[in-house]
Amino acid sequence: MDQCFVKMIEAPGEKEQIVRTVLEALTDWFEVTETREAYIRDSRELICFAAFAESRPVGFLCLKETGRETVELAVMGVLKEYHRHGVGKALFKAAKSHAIRLGYALMQVKTVAMGYYADYDETNRFYQAMGFMELEVIPAVWGDENPCQIYVMPLNDSASLLRLILSRRSYRGGYKPDAVPREHLTAIMEAGLAAPSGCNKQTTSLIAVDDPETLSKLRAVIDPPVAETAPAVICVLTRRIIAYRDRCFATQDYAAAIENMLLAITALGYRSCWYEGHITDADRIGDKMAKILGVPDGYELVCVLPVGIAEEEAAQPKKRAFEERAWFNRFPG
Ligand SMILES: Cc1cc2nc3c(=O)[nH]c(=O)nc-3n(C[C@H](O)[C@H](O)[C@H](O)COP(=O)(O)O)c2cc1C
Repeated sequence: MDQCFVKMIEAPGEKEQIVRTVLEALTDWFEVTETREAYIRDSRELICFAAFAESRPVGFLCLKETGRETVELAVMGVLKEYHRHGVGKALFKAAKSHAIRLGYALMQVKTVAMGYYADYDETNRFYQAMGFMELEVIPAVWGDENPCQIYVMPLNDSASLLRLILSRRSYRGGYKPDAVPREHLTAIMEAGLAAPSGCNKQTTSLIAVDDPETLSKLRAVIDPPVAETAPAVICVLTRRIIAYRDRCFATQDYAAAIENMLLAITALGYRSCWYEGHITDADRIGDKMAKILGVPDGYELVCVLPVGIAEEEAAQPKKRAFEERAWFNRFPG
């Protein structure tokens, strides 16, 4: 988007003026005067972003709330000579980020379905490229000659991540026998390896075990038994090396990796539990497991995470109230 910039427009009069300038140059799309004037008038009340080349408006995008958590890309336009210059994309990016910040969960947009008019086919391709998904075509909206394609896009990635974090629970019940696909185990381990590590020493390594024979060898040394029916486990290894001076961050490193994996496991619909105390206590079960897995010297097996589909609900441990553990600006009292 050479020399163009996007900004949010607050003043109703300015919104109206920009929308008019752009729409009156786009009569291939906004042919009917009455409809065009309605878009211009309505823009005064909508969230409006405009793209400028120097000080000249070359595009705009308006968002309209359609429900408590839903927003519509009500109308957008980019001057024809600025098509394929990234202007639409920049407008959309700014509007989407704004909608996410406002807490909207879903964005919709309507256009004439693909295959009727070349200009609208271009619009469809643009929305698809932005990540919109086809929801439904409803001819009744604008009539049979202009079947209305409704696109939707989930926006609440961050909201669902927060919900996921709050919904994670340690699960200690039985597991269904369904195997965990390798791509899921890989995705979980990738999440673990993506965690931060002190001085980027990357002291954590992982071994996923889904081979029934190896699993039964591991189970034979886990006493008392835990997660006996889990179809897979991820073993967490650490190297207790110095990060700088006398500081070793290996424990912090693997703790961050484990939490990432617990969240990934939860996101994929599986359950797990952080089994560390159990296997690193005086009886050193972790060392026995490491031996079975051929782990060389220099690595310590510190934790095992079962992975599988839960047979029952996880227990809900009582957590202390927010106010008892978190504060703003200073320790209370
Ligand atoms: C360092 C660490 C070691 C843990 N070791 C064990 C363990 O050996 N056995 C077990 O059942 N749970 C273990 N847990 C899980 C905790 O008991 C659990 O996180 C806690 O009870 C809170 O429950 P929640 O995870 O559902 O929020 C461990 C957790 C951490 C962070």
